[in-house]
Order: sequence, then structure tokens, then C-alpha cells
Amino acid sequence: MPRFLSAKTDTRLITLPWETPLAEWPEEMLVALPRGISRHVVRFVRVGKEVFAVKEVLEHLARHEYRLLRDLTRLDTPSVEAVGVVTDRFTPDGTVLDPILITRHLQFSLPYRSLFSRGVRQDTVNRLVDAMVVLLARLHLIGFLWGDVSLSNTLFRRDAGAFAAYLVDAETGELHDQLTNGQREHDLTIARTNLFGEFCDLEAGGLLDEALDPLVLVETIESRYRELWGELTGVEEFDGSEMHRIESRVRRLNALGFDVAELDITTDFAGSTIRIQPKVVDAGHHSRRLIRLTGLDTEENQARRLLNDLDYYRARTDQQNADESIVAHQWLTNRFEPVVNSVPAEMRAKLEPAELYHEVLEHRWFLSERAGNEVPVDQAARSYMDTVLSQLPDEKLNLSGMEAMGPLANPFDPSQGFVDDEVDKPYDPWETESDDDTPEEPATPYLDIAALRRAKG
Ligand SMILES: Nc1ncnc2c1ncn2[C@@H]1O[C@H](COP(=O)(O)OP(=O)(O)OP(=O)(O)O)[C@@H](O)[C@H]1O
Ligand SMILES: [Mg+2]
Repeated sequence: MPRFLSAKTDTRLITLPWETPLAEWPEEMLVALPRGISRHVVRFVRVGKEVFAVKEVLEHLARHEYRLLRDLTRLDTPSVEAVGVVTDRFTPDGTVLDPILITRHLQFSLPYRSLFSRGVRQDTVNRLVDAMVVLLARLHLIGFLWGDVSLSNTLFRRDAGAFAAYLVDAETGELHDQLTNGQREHDLTIARTNLFGEFCDLEAGGLLDEALDPLVLVETIESRYRELWGELTGVEEFDGSEMHRIESRVRRLNALGFDVAELDITTDFAGSTIRIQPKVVDAGHHSRRLIRLTGLDTEENQARRLLNDLDYYRARTDQQNADESIVAHQWLTNRFEPVVNSVPAEMRAKLEPAELYHEVLEHRWFLSERAGNEVPVDQAARSYMDTVLSQLPDEKLNLSGMEAMGPLANPFDPSQGFVDDEVDKPYDPWETESDDDTPEEPATPYLDIAALRRAKG
């Protein structure tokens, strides 16, 4: 009898022909779907309405990969989801078979390799490259050393209109608390070697668009990774009078799709130079932290905003080493409540306190950007009430502070900024076939860090 290692075994899986070598599984249970190149035997099987990927692999590798994929899912990192490992496989005549790792097939995904071999336009290439770079940076942020970045080991999928890359194949991966620069460089070297080889291979087979050059592609991936990593983790130093730059940095990170858990803010002895380094994290983190510290129960974006303000308050009052909950209490009584209480009672009823404070912060940010220096929060609150809150009809209140400054990119998420800042909508390779000969759009990188810097200081 085969043995199943899994958190929760799907009983339908038990009936699969585990006593048969995977390469000989009956065709009627298999599904033909695009797949990357692999050393192991990999098949897609349909079970009920679901499709699973099954891979025959040595036991220690199967267990290792299973555990790592579970960790990646737990850490909210885009990867395929491990379902289980099947061991103790024997054929009816007693021959031992290798264990099988089962993962859930990532719906609507394509391996990068098959995308490139279908012929993609330059604009799509940029977006694909950026999605891959974001994946690599996200993995590195959580301490994951991939060890086998490749076109076949990366899946591509459109997520809510955006391009997203997923990890498939964690066999060589290692999860550490944190990666050293040396470890990241090691991963980049592997990526460079693998990707260059694969692009050349596609080129030799006449499968790579003639306009694409393997070396340029690989160099672009590397330089965009470095640029993103710098933006995500780089230390920034500036003068004490330029505190609004902290916010600009956070906004750029948010626009790139990353959250900031904490800003490591240090001030020099005289308090004139400020150094910031963001700690970038997973979703849901902020509302949990805010409720723990202040009791305020808010949406994630509001929480992110309020916590940034709390960190900012901590730096402003030079309390870097003070107990976090004490500073949070001070912030609540000295900053948050005075602003909320300064709103006339009839207007206060129209907005939740956290949303109101958030709006005031937004307003202050714009005033500061416009003035080129930091506008005090009480002054911003007054200006917000006079120029925005009092002017707009009730139903507009939620967006008031931002709308006064221009149309929002996403009315449901003001943190995404304005229409002007919006990154172009991703190009969809399924919507246009490659024989389409309409003139090409100018290539716009998806992660335009330089443009974000220009737009947001
Ligand atoms: N859960 C999944 N969802 C979608 N596609 C998958 C999934 N699992 C595997 N694949 C496809 O199967 C291919 C081979 O899988 P995988 O990379 O795990 O095999 P491998 O033999 O370990 O590869 P390598 O030679 O890189 O070690 C992948 O490139 C991918 O296209
Ligand atoms: Mg692989």
C-alpha cells in the first residue's frame, strides 16, 4: 500500500494508479497542458474537476520540495501549492517505484519558456521580465534561495489584470531567516546562466523572436532586479527638514506592489540627518499590528498609512528605542485623537475616525509636496476641513481629500495614487495573437521605478 504524506489527504487521490510507473499512466486520466522542460517525469492528472501535477522524484527531494512549497504558501509567496507526497510505491511484481510529489495545477498558467517560444512583443517581454524580477525579489525578501531560477521553473499568470510570476519547482530551494548578499548573488549567477542557456536554446531552434537578444534579455533581468532590490531595501539618508521623503519612499514601494512593515528610522546625534530603511512584508500585516498597538481596527491600507505615521511620529519625537506600545499610546493621544476631535461633530459622523485621519494624512502629504517642506498635521487638518470636507456632498466624503487633487487611479484604493501616476495596463498575450501586425506601442517597463521617483519625489 502506498503511503500519503499530506496535511489533508484528498481521498480521490488514493484511487490513482500508484502501482504503475508515472510514465505509463493511462492517457485517459491525463490532461495535456503546456509544460516546461524537466528532468523528472511530470504529468497532469484530472481528478474530478481538479487538475494536479504529479512528479516522480527521489524521496528526500520530494519531501524537501513538499515542505518548502508549504512554507512558501504559508508565507504568501507566489508558488504552486503542494498537496502531498506518495511513498512506498511498488508494482504488482514488487519493483520499487520512486515517490511522487503532488501539486495543484496552477490554473491558467504557462511556463515562461512556452511564452517566449510563442513569439512575444517587446512590450510584453518587459512585463514578463518585470514579473519574474518581482518574484525573485519577493523570494529573496523572505529568505528563500531558489538555486534553480529558469524559464521552465517559472510560471506566468495574469492576476487581476496584472502580470504575475509563480515559482514551480522548489527542489533546490533553501529557506533562511535572511539571505546574505553573497547568497543573493549566487542565485543571480544561477539565473543568468540558466536563462542565457535557455534563451540561446530557443534562439537556436528558431523559437525566439528575432528582435530579442539572449544577452540583452539576461542583462535586463539582472539590472532590473538590482534596481528593484535597491528600491525595496536601500538605505536613504536625508536632512531633518525633508521628512516628507519618508512618505514618498513608502508610496513608491506601495505603487510597486510591496508593503512596508516597518521603517527602520535612525536619526544622528543632533537629529539633523535621518536614515531610513524599509522592511518589506506580506499582506494583512499592518491591520494586525495596528490593532495590537492601538486597538484601532482598520482596513489594510488605512492601517499601513496610520502605522507609517506612527513610525514617523516616533522618529519626530526621537523615541527610536522606546517601547513600541508606549509610543503608540502617545501617538494615539497626541496626534490621532486631536485631529479626529478637531472635526466638528456634524462632519465627524460622516467618516470613520481612521478614515478621517487617513484623509488628513493624504491631504498633508499633498500640501507638503506642493510646498516642498513638511506641513504640520494640525495645519493640514484645518486645511482639509476648510477646503475639502466642508465643500463636498456627503457621498463623496470617502474620497474627498484625494479627489480634490485629481482623479484616482483606483477609487477603492487611494494608496495607488492618481491617474497620472498609473502604470500602463499590462498587455495580454492572449488577447492579441502574434501575427497581429498593428504598430507596436512604445515599450513601457511595468516597474517603472524611475518614473515613480519623478512623479512622487
Ligand atoms: N503545479 C503545477 N502547475 C502548473 N504547471 C506545473 C506544476 N507542476 C509542474 N508544472 C510544469 O511541469 C514542468 C516540470 O515540473 P518541475 O519543474 O517541477 O520538474 P523538474 O523535473 O523538477 O524540473 P527540473 O528539471 O528543473 O528539476 C514545469 O516546468 C511546469 O511547466
Ligand atoms: Mg523544473
